[in-house]
Amino acid sequence: AKPDLAKGQASFTAVCVACHGPDGNSLVPDYPKLAQQHPEYLIKQLQEFKAGKRQNAIMLGFSAMLSDEDMKNIAYWVTTNKAAPGTAADADLIAQGKRIYLGGVLDRNIPACAGCHGPAAAGIPAQYPRLKGQQANYVVTQLTTFRSGERNNNLQMTGVAAKLNDREIKAVAEYVASL
Ligand code: HEM
Ligand code: HEM
Repeated sequence: AKPDLAKGQASFTAVCVACHGPDGNSLVPDYPKLAQQHPEYLIKQLQEFKAGKRQNAIMLGFSAMLSDEDMKNIAYWVTTNKAAPGTAADADLIAQGKRIYLGGVLDRNIPACAGCHGPAAAGIPAQYPRLKGQQANYVVTQLTTFRSGERNNNLQMTGVAAKLNDREIKAVAEYVASL
């Protein structure tokens, strides 16, 4: 069935706004922006939070309340909103992050992020999420938890994150957040 966008908006507005912002542009650095993300990616995450495959105590609770239908309605509604522009921080970090993002690190077999997330970080539907303008703190947390194995719902990212040091994680996070 086609998603019911009005229902999606109503559910989102009743609950999710508190953390993800009225239109899915979270204002809190630790909470991800959902606006303009690929809906299929968001549905996958909600399913995996609910199943405990992506472990997060907060989102376990909120996803548990949602049916497959609710997830679809919310994901298709929230992604119709335009993402807010990113916020720039330290110029040196951003420059280092840009090099890693676009070219990887050859001598350590770190692949270019652009290969999967796209040259402009808009993502590639449906599997590869948009990173453009994402909250830097949130991106740091994801890369750190992929690296430690705490987030283990995607093996490609486990492999990439395993090779990144703390400074590189901070740098790519600041770069994508600045776009
Ligand atoms: C992550 C949806 C409510 C806090 C996420 C993600 C989705 C989502 C799809 C993953 C985003 C991504 O992978 O890029 C929703 C929906 C909600 C809701 C549909 C309402 C039903 C909330 C609330 C809070 C919250 C109320 C705060 C109390 C978080 C946090 C994360 C997250 C902290 C990151 C988890 C992590 O680090 O793995 N949410 N959310 N969410 N959400 Fe929500
Ligand atoms: C997810 C960053 C390289 C495939 C993610 C996420 C981040 C990220 C932060 C989580 C997004 C979110 O929670 O909203 C990066 C960076 C890279 C990189 C900084 C380069 C250093 C790659 C490469 C691939 C890839 C090379 C493909 C081989 C994926 C996939 C997901 C993802 C499939 C979604 C995982 C899921 O469904 O839960 N990436 N990535 N990434 N990345 Fe990457």
